[in-house]
Formats: sequence, structure tokens, C-alpha cells
Amino acid sequence: MLPTIDWEDGEVVMVDQRKLPAKEVYVRSKTAKDVAKAIKTMVIRGAPAIGVAASMGVVLEVRRSSATGTTQLATEFYRACDLLAATRPTAVNLFWAIERMKRTFADAMKAGQSVDELKDTIDAEAKRVHDEDVASCRALGRFGAEVVPAEGHVLTHCNAGALATGGYGTALGVVRAADEAGKKVAVFADETRPFLQGARLTAWELLRDGIETTVITDGMSGALMRSGRVDVVVVGADRIAANGDVANKIGTYTVAVLAKEHGVPFYVAAPVSTVDLATPDGSAIPIEERDTKEITHLGAAQLAPDGADVWNPAFDVTPARFVTGIITDHGICRPPFTESLRAACEQAGAPNRPA
Ligand code: MRU
Repeated sequence: MLPTIDWEDGEVVMVDQRKLPAKEVYVRSKTAKDVAKAIKTMVIRGAPAIGVAASMGVVLEVRRSSATGTTQLATEFYRACDLLAATRPTAVNLFWAIERMKRTFADAMKAGQSVDELKDTIDAEAKRVHDEDVASCRALGRFGAEVVPAEGHVLTHCNAGALATGGYGTALGVVRAADEAGKKVAVFADETRPFLQGARLTAWELLRDGIETTVITDGMSGALMRSGRVDVVVVGADRIAANGDVANKIGTYTVAVLAKEHGVPFYVAAPVSTVDLATPDGSAIPIEERDTKEITHLGAAQLAPDGADVWNPAFDVTPARFVTGIITDHGICRPPFTESLRAACEQAGAPNRPA
């Protein structure tokens, strides 16, 4: 399993995803503020992974608290939650994880737990968030493997792999599960401008697993599909609205439209913690806009001239009509998504942000 995020000596350790694949270096966090910075600056990224990170950030804060009473601990706990929630706006898993930590804390307070007991309760809940995320990825991978042919090519966009989750991955979890089931699967990875999650991270983690990977630039996917070499598209998601509209890394929408044009099935792989029943459709999903320097520069090298205007939305929304199916840890949801997504959430027991 890849070392996306873990505990070491009471600190949270994350592989620095900004440096991969050139360097495998680790960033240590001692406080919720450190974790918030790591999320904001993309040391760790990917919807499920930032949810896991946020829950661990909350643990760091309550663990280091010198509060002697539960009211003081609660103040510090909720402050940490607010800080972590203000990092990135689009991936709903972040808010899902924080809400889950808040619910657990509130229930434990109601049950009259002491400061030490509260700390242990929060610690245990964060571990569950992490463990369940890995289990969800494995479950959705098993469901999704059926959409991958016995021998063929999957096209993916961005990185929805072990690095983007607690481990194993969503879209790449489907690829891994197909590979483990003995299918001969190879991957086309869109490079994914501007942060290059596909070229840097998807290719790196798949090659470590011995899965054949071909990197293409984002502009090549249409020609590739037209050549008949893509059997199925599988991507991840940052937030799925109640009607099946999907927010994912910028460029996903383009891939979905091209897939429809070329008759290639377009699947989204995500745990139900990415489904947001409180958001009726994609128009209500907040889209993060990031620093323009991500576009104008590549590291220290300037690509665009001074004075050029830049638009840098980190995500786009793919309308549900372009989506063949949504592979969740509770089965593959098919259109009409309003019904199938609600059913998957109900089956999961604790619907995320209920409508
Ligand atoms: O900006 P990022 O790298 O956090 O964006 C990540 C994506 O868009 C992923 O496809 C999505 O979070 C799914 S990760 C399993």
C-alpha cells in the first residue's frame, strides 16, 4: 500500500504529492493548522484523502490540547474543524469527514465523557474514517472491475488512486481490482493540466504496481478515442449532486463529451461519501479557483507572458446525461441517478448530507 497518509510518533505524515515522482519526501504535521496548510497547498489532494487528512488534523488538535474541562476542549475542537473546512471548497468528502467528527464529538459530550475519553473517542473515529475509506475503495473496485474488458484500455483523468484516497483508489481501485481479477488492463493517463496529477501521480503509482500506463496530453484524448483504442473511461469525483451531475478535475467534462461522441462508456468511481444529496444538481457545486501561477508557470519557468489574463478553475461539472454509471461501494448506480444514488446512500446507512 502506498504511504499516502499515516501516523508516526503522534504526528501525521504525508507523502508530498507536489514533489512526486522526482522525489519521495514526507511532510509531518503536528497541528490542525499544519494539516490545513498541507491540504491547501496540495501536499495531499484527492477528495477522500483530504477527508481522511482533516479527521486526523482534528485528532492532532484535541491530543495536544491542555484543556482541563470539556467546554474548553469543545471550543478548541470546533475551531480546528472550522480551520480545516476552510481549505478547499469542492470535494464534499472534506465536509463529510468533518461533520462525522463533529457528530461523534457531540454524542460523546452528551454521554458525559471526560476530556481523556473524548480524546480517545475522536482518535478512534478518525481511524475508522481512514479504514472505512480503504474498505470502500476495495468494495467499489470489486463492483467496477466488471466494466473493464478481459483485455483492454481504460482512460482516466487526474489521479483517483491510492494517493487520492486513504489507499487503493477509486478509478484506479477499479483498475487494480480488474488487474487482481486477472484481466489484462492497461491505462491511458491524461496528464491533467495544470497540476499534472495524471502524468506525475497516476503514472507513478500504476507503474509501481506493474500496470502498463501510457501518458497522453489532455488534448489527445479525442484523437485517441477516435482511433478506437479506448474501451472505457473511468474517473473519480469530488462531489456528485443528487441528480448525478459530477464535479471532478477540470477537463473531465471534455473527456465525457468526447466519450459520448465516440460511443465509449464513461464511468465515475466514488464512495457514497462523495455523493451529496443536499446539492440538487451540478450548478450548486462550489468550484474552487486556484492561483493563476499554476497556469502561467511550471515550477520556476514562466510559460505565459506577463499581463495575460488567466482563468484557473480546479474542477468542472459533467452533466449526468454523459455518465454511463457511477461505481460506488454499494454497487453501480445507473440512470436515473436521482433514484439509484438515493438507494445507494440509504443502503450505506448514513446518507451523506441528506436532502
Ligand atoms: O485538485 P485535486 O488533485 O484534489 O483533484 C482531485 C480530483 O479531481 C480527483 O479526481 C477526485 O478528487 C477523486 S479522487 C479519488
